[in-house]
Amino acid sequence: DICYLNGEFLPLERACISPMDRGFLFGDGAYEVVPVYGGRPFRLPAHLRRLDQTLAGIRLPNPHTHEHWTRLIHELLAAGRWRDAGVYLQITRGVPEQRDHAFPEGTRPTVFMTASPLPTPMPPDSEQGKSAVRLQDNRWGRCDLKTVALLPNVLLRQQAVEAGADEALLLRDGQLTEGAASNAFVVCENRVKTPLQGPGLLPGVTRDFVVELLRDHGVACECTTISAEELARADEIWLTSSTKELLPVTRLDGEPVGDGRPGPMWRRTRAWFDEHKA
Ligand code: PDD
Repeated sequence: DICYLNGEFLPLERACISPMDRGFLFGDGAYEVVPVYGGRPFRLPAHLRRLDQTLAGIRLPNPHTHEHWTRLIHELLAAGRWRDAGVYLQITRGVPEQRDHAFPEGTRPTVFMTASPLPTPMPPDSEQGKSAVRLQDNRWGRCDLKTVALLPNVLLRQQAVEAGADEALLLRDGQLTEGAASNAFVVCENRVKTPLQGPGLLPGVTRDFVVELLRDHGVACECTTISAEELARADEIWLTSSTKELLPVTRLDGEPVGDGRPGPMWRRTRAWFDEHKA
């Protein structure tokens, strides 16, 4: 596979990054995952705006303009003959001479990009959903930034996997924030809700797309607080992300969600998602 590293397109197995890279030493960097459908990056301007927000939040200047990023992504897709893919891009604070927590002076950021296949989306007529467990959200206070320092997310997701579940749904102060690698929606008594945006969760591009889809089809979606109890008695729970698209959670902590099958609101929204994602 062809990747991009610091101005060059090259085979992934030939790409080399110094062990002194701040991304390796400190997780000091930002990333994005952009889905590509039929050769077209989906909602790229929104991903690039969020990248700007993350980079501003970690005080790392963006090495490229949006136009330049767009060109690089299209070149990567062309080089790998990708039609449907997830583009991963990462920028770190570069390679200093010595390890020091404080920002180094005069380093160039390391810019890396690669593409990989997307998982097959779950069809709207699917009879089976995903499972989740509720876990304590013990991450830092800036979960709105998409940084590569993902160890808490890694540990939470692994805890979910070891509990036999697909995803962890995270609770901070008794309120739902998001999944370990996804945003969350609930349907309670025909009302669709998703946690209010703030520093405690990532402003998901797919989340925004789903909120828009619902509104465009006359379904109100409330951005509000969702308690652990509301989550436990929800009729439907959904997960969204750039790679997962829109998934139904049909088991929560081993108990069925609703009747234990993907719900009617999910089916409808899943179909709208397919109609509008291209
Ligand atoms: N993760 N919340 C977290 C913690 C995430 O890691 C992600 C996505 C999302 C969904 O955001 P979006 O819809 O913009 O992809 C929410 C990516 C896909 C990943 O780390 O692979």
